Amino acid sequence: MPERCRSGFFQEKIKFGKRPNVDRINPDVWLNLHIENTRATISFDTSGGSLHRRGYRRESVEAPMQETLAAAMVALSGWKGEKPLYDPMCGSGTLLCEALMKTCRIPAGFLKKNFGFCFLPDFNKGLWESIKKKADEKISPLPPELIAGSDIERMAVKAAKTNCRILPGGEMIKICRTDFKDISNLENSVIMCNPPYGIRLKKEEDLGEFYKNFGDFLKQRCKGSQAYIYFGNREMLKKIGLKPAWKKPIRNAGLDGRVAKYELY
Ligand SMILES: C[S@@+](CC[C@H](N)C(=O)[O-])C[C@H]1O[C@@H](n2cnc3c(N)ncnc32)[C@H](O)[C@@H]1O
Repeated sequence: MPERCRSGFFQEKIKFGKRPNVDRINPDVWLNLHIENTRATISFDTSGGSLHRRGYRRESVEAPMQETLAAAMVALSGWKGEKPLYDPMCGSGTLLCEALMKTCRIPAGFLKKNFGFCFLPDFNKGLWESIKKKADEKISPLPPELIAGSDIERMAVKAAKTNCRILPGGEMIKICRTDFKDISNLENSVIMCNPPYGIRLKKEEDLGEFYKNFGDFLKQRCKGSQAYIYFGNREMLKKIGLKPAWKKPIRNAGLDGRVAKYELY
């Protein structure tokens, strides 16, 4: 019998006459195989899948933001819940969910049922449960009116509401359908969003014009606010017509994007 037939997989096939059952979507144990030239490395994934998938994205939109990119934007802004936070182009609500997780101290893996380390032979279930309980006890309620958002698309509003409500306190986030141009004012707030950066817009408005209009909105109706904008298309930094207080590179999903901060007086 060849050596490889001694492995559990083959032994199980020989013993029971069938392949072992593997849940391809949610397996107990994740093994990663990395092949580079003539070298192959097999590693055991103690996380049990990508940690950027928080588990709240039940519905999506075109060009949703990666959860970790949204978390990085919230962290870069330094927002700690001292002013209301508003996303006027919230799409599926990723920035709203990450802001909620940050301010209410919801652990990033809160919705994850199992981690890879739970299947290690020396896993201590009691210790893990007490650590998790302590972290979960620190979750605080979301103050009313602290986080809100809107989007022009009905389906985006529906997705954002569904996703936010998966998280504790998410039902407190008000989300409505509106064009940002119809928002009367967003004063003394923290504005955070990633506007469209290449997807098709209405025919009469090109992307440059869209960003100019958004810049005018920030200037005229958002006094006393700080805006943090993610530019997937860096050319649009020139079109918004505002001088950033700072710009920081964030590379994500093949895009060499920038987060820019604007002080609105
Ligand atoms: C890149 S997506 C935002 C993705 C979002 N951050 C997420 O994680 O799902 C840009 C969003 O801007 C919205 N949008 C486009 N034009 C708008 C407008 N005039 N007013 C409000 N929202 C608009 C689109 O419907 C889309 O959901």
